[in-house]
Amino acid sequence: MKFFIDTANLAQIKEANDLGILDGVTTNPSLMAKEGIKGTEAINNHYKTICEMVDGDISAEVLSTTFNEIVEEGKKLAAIHPNIIVKVPMIKEGIKAIKWFTDNGIKTNCTLVFSAGQAILAAKAGATYVSPFIGRIDDSGWDGVQLIAQIANIYSIQGFKTEVLAASIRNPNHIIQCAEAGADVCTCPLEPILGLLKHPLTDIGLAKFLDDAKKM
Ligand code: E4P
Repeated sequence: MKFFIDTANLAQIKEANDLGILDGVTTNPSLMAKEGIKGTEAINNHYKTICEMVDGDISAEVLSTTFNEIVEEGKKLAAIHPNIIVKVPMIKEGIKAIKWFTDNGIKTNCTLVFSAGQAILAAKAGATYVSPFIGRIDDSGWDGVQLIAQIANIYSIQGFKTEVLAASIRNPNHIIQCAEAGADVCTCPLEPILGLLKHPLTDIGLAKFLDDAKKM
């Protein structure tokens, strides 16, 4: 399973990248706004900086909602760097645009996916990635991990090449459950990634070893 970090914060991207386990970055308009990135030039420069920091797939989200505008915006985003993945919302015009991008050699991430039916459409359009938002599904009283398993199973049965990118991860257990459910990628904030490191018995065991080492 690939690990992407879900942030536009450069310090956090660097910290995750320095671990040596990072395969890419996802951003969205909310994450860019949180970092105070405003205006097309600043946004594009920020994507370029991220691409230069991380050797992997970097999702850049379109802000348009009509086919022609999504295509024009996506072409400009894709021109920023060869590793840019154009992130397109799961709407009718978005599916049409994903098919256009697929036919024209531009990689895509279909975002805001909350059902297996939406994931089938994204795969049919040739999306490189499909992003089911499991945390938001859990927040609504449904089971996000179950959706990952369902989509992974459908893609396997049908032979779809689209990769299942588990998004909206809230905690380390989500990452483990998504790995078990067959996700190809999980994208998560830095905290759940670092949370995977933690176990109290590791801390206790290391303290004892270091203490005993003084007696060696
Ligand atoms: C990733 O592509 C999504 O934008 C992100 O995971 C959404 O996460 P959230 O539900 O925590 O905002």
